[in-house]
Order: sequence, then C-alpha cells, then structure tokens
Amino acid sequence: NGKLIPWNGEVTEVFSPVFIQSSEGLKRKLLGTIPHTSAKEALESLEAAVAAYDNGQGEWPTMSVENRIKCMQKFVYLMIQQRQLVIKLLMWEIGKSLPDSTKEFDRTVEYINATIDALKDLDRESSRFEEAEGVLAQIRRSSLGVVLSMGPFNYPLNEIFTTLIPALIMGNTILFKLPKHGVLAHYPLLNAFKEAFPPGTVNTLYGRGAEIISPLMESGKVNVLAFIGSSKVANSLKKLHPKANRLRSILSLDAKNAAIVTKHADLDVAVSECLLGALSFNGQRCTALKLIFVQKEIAAAFVEKLSEAVAALKPGLPWDKDVKITPLPEFDKPNYLKNCLDDALAHGAQIINENGGYSNNSFVFPAVVYPVNDKMKLYHEEQFGPIIPVVPFDTIDEPIEYQINASHGMQVSIFSEDPKEVASLIDPFVNLVSRVNINCLSQRGPDVFPFTGRKDSAEGTLSISDALRSFSIRSLVATKSTDANKK
Ligand code: G3H
Repeated sequence: NGKLIPWNGEVTEVFSPVFIQSSEGLKRKLLGTIPHTSAKEALESLEAAVAAYDNGQGEWPTMSVENRIKCMQKFVYLMIQQRQLVIKLLMWEIGKSLPDSTKEFDRTVEYINATIDALKDLDRESSRFEEAEGVLAQIRRSSLGVVLSMGPFNYPLNEIFTTLIPALIMGNTILFKLPKHGVLAHYPLLNAFKEAFPPGTVNTLYGRGAEIISPLMESGKVNVLAFIGSSKVANSLKKLHPKANRLRSILSLDAKNAAIVTKHADLDVAVSECLLGALSFNGQRCTALKLIFVQKEIAAAFVEKLSEAVAALKPGLPWDKDVKITPLPEFDKPNYLKNCLDDALAHGAQIINENGGYSNNSFVFPAVVYPVNDKMKLYHEEQFGPIIPVVPFDTIDEPIEYQINASHGMQVSIFSEDPKEVASLIDPFVNLVSRVNINCLSQRGPDVFPFTGRKDSAEGTLSISDALRSFSIRSLVATKSTDANKK
C-alpha cells in the first residue's frame, strides 16, 4: 500500500548458486536476507489492492489511458536507473550469464515500451463508434479488478512483468509474489513502483505460497490469477477460490517440447538449433527442447555431432566470457537430474558425451542421453535442466503419437529440408501444440507474437497486445442510432 513497514519478523537468507571460498571451505555466497510477508500482511496487501480498485471507482481504474501511460513511463525511467544493479543481481542470484541477464533486463524494458504503444492502438480502436441494427455503440476496454501475479525463477523479472505490466496498465490493481530465486533482483525496482503509481495499486509479497497465497485465493477477492509455473500448483490455487468458475486465469505452465529430426534434415542446422534450444540457460526454460526424436537412419550421426557440440560448451561463472554452462539456482536440481540419468541408464540408455551429467557443487555438465524410450522418466518428465534425451524413431507416426498422448502442448520443432514432408507435418502438429517451428528452435519471442499452449501448457494468451486483451473486458456504451446520437 505504498508504505514502508518496520520489520522484526521472519527473514530468509538468500544464497547464490555461486560458491565462494570461506573459512569453512567452499560455500554458496550469502547475498542478503529478506523479510517474509506474514499471512496477516498478505491479507492487508489484498485489502489495499481491493481499496485502490474500489469496485472500479478508484484513482487508478478511473485514470485516463493517457495518464496511466505517463505513470508507466515514469516507472520505466526509474527502472532504467537500476539497470546495472538488476543485471548484477540476476547473475549472482540465478546464475544467468551476463549476456542473458542483460537481455532479460533490456527485453523487459522493450516489452513495457511496446505495451505502452499497443495500449495507444487499443485505445484508438476503443474510441471508435460502431453501428449495427439500429444500435450505436462505443466498445471500450475496461479493467477486471485485483490481479495476483506470480512467476518462476528462470526469468524472475521478465516473466512476472509479462503479466504484471499489461494487467497494471489496463487499470487493474496488483498483488505480486516475488519468486524464491531472483527475489533480490526485484528490490531495486520496488521503490519505482511506489514512486510511479498511486498507493495500493502495486503490492509486493514474499514468502511461502501455502502461508500467504492460499489465504488470498480463499478470500475470493482475487479476480484474476496470472501464474507462470507448474499446472499442479495452478490447479491447486484455482481450487482454493470460492468462485473458481468466475476467476479469470492467465497461465503459462508445463511443457516438454519435442524436436523431430527426420532423415531429410540438414544435420548441421538441426544440431546447432537443438543445442541452443535444449541448453540455453542450462535448459531452464519452459520453451526449451526437452525431447529430441531423430529418425533411425541418421540417429547415430546426429548424436555424435550433438555430443561434439556439447563438449565444446564452456562452463564458468555468469560473468565469464563466452560461458554457456553456469551454476543452477535450485539446490535440489543436481540430485533430481542424477536421478533421471540413473533411471535412463537402468533402462538401457547411455550418456554419450564425456563428462555428461558430471556435477560439481551447483554445476551440472550437460548430458546427451541415447537411446531414450517411453520406459524412462526422461521421456515423460520436464527435466528443466541440462539433459538432452534423444529418441530414435522409424516412422513419423511415433512423435505424433507422443504429442497426442502428452498432457502438455506448447511447441514443437521440425527439422527437414523436404518441403512436402514439412507440409505434411504442420497440420497434425498445429492442432496439438500452439507453435510449430520449422528448422529452428522453440522460443517465446518475438514478444509481439502470441504465446500460449494447449492442454496443461497454458490458459489464455500472453504477448504484448494479447496480454492487454487478456487483462481486460470489452464493454459497451450503447444507444439507439438516431441522427442526433450519431452527432
Ligand atoms: O521459461 C519460459 C519462458 O517463457 C521462455 O522464454 O523462449 O524467450 O527463453 P524464452
């Protein structure tokens, strides 16, 4: 609610995935301590957001589009002052390389600026009058109420802002929970929210979801749930809401995107795109390629080339030059990945590249695993880490069958230089996933394109203009279309 609260409650120590030498040996660097929001304070924040919205009568939802844009521009101006610090915190906190941390910050600023431009277009569209069957109407875009926004650690800043910013600029009031890893990267920006927007418009929470998010959902006062994470958590949150069927949900969830490399693929293109698609930010992206189907005729050659490419990747700290393999922020991830690898080996697969799966503190060296089959965890689970499972196939029906049976449907990448083959594969996949990539990796951007998924992968659509629509309702001001009214 725009107030600083003196703190004497629970705090959490935030540790870096980067280990440093200490008197007790190698240890994760302690980056800082942060206060926990209590359930009581979370509910007070909710009341602040509800009061600031005030049934659509508050200062923010009734503010003109022009003035809301001015507030957002002020926020961007203040945000940019913190660029270097936020980038540094991203590197230390989540182990993201310097180029990728820089990109995350700059992409977020570009996203906000593009959202402002898209709102101007939307506003022009909304100020037009339409006439049909004797009714003259102005179709407006109106806000929805209180939006609860949460996002994951892999883009702690960018992903949360892809819901928070469009929701905010459309006139909604916001509660947002900072991610467990990547929480400190938000701190330099919190004052910018306080400076740029009216009190109660943006409220920040940090703590254990069960303690602070459950009471918010149970209150029934959250109008929109904007969540990026697992479908399991999203479903349990929705169920807590007493009017779950009236809760609008904008969700980006599970994905195990497959690549399909046919015998007609250009092997070099397929290898370099699959490498990048599977391993950028150590495979910790919802859009990462997490299962690679390769036609049997070329499987051995593909696996060999891919392993050579993986061996050339440089491990190091986020600020090291040309580094591609960096420390993993989730403490339990190395154990989970080892468990997946042991399971694959027990079911007959091999780790093809030297050092594949080798782990040292928070580093895990990427592993190319082959041949993978449906008996293995790696075939089904979203590893969200540096493992590339390769599945040999005879006929194209096999990867299609995989996608039909999957509980998710975000993206697929098809590699083939035969136009007829490509054309024959687009149709089956276009109805199973939300984006089919031809001879290129899977990714969310460019941010002007719609970003969504089928089945357990998403609800609603993000992107710049889609998100503005997702966080608003089309409402009408209508009258009879007499000549006098037209004037
Ligand atoms: O983790 C999910 C992100 O939406 C991935 O975004 O494809 O731009 O890396 P990206």
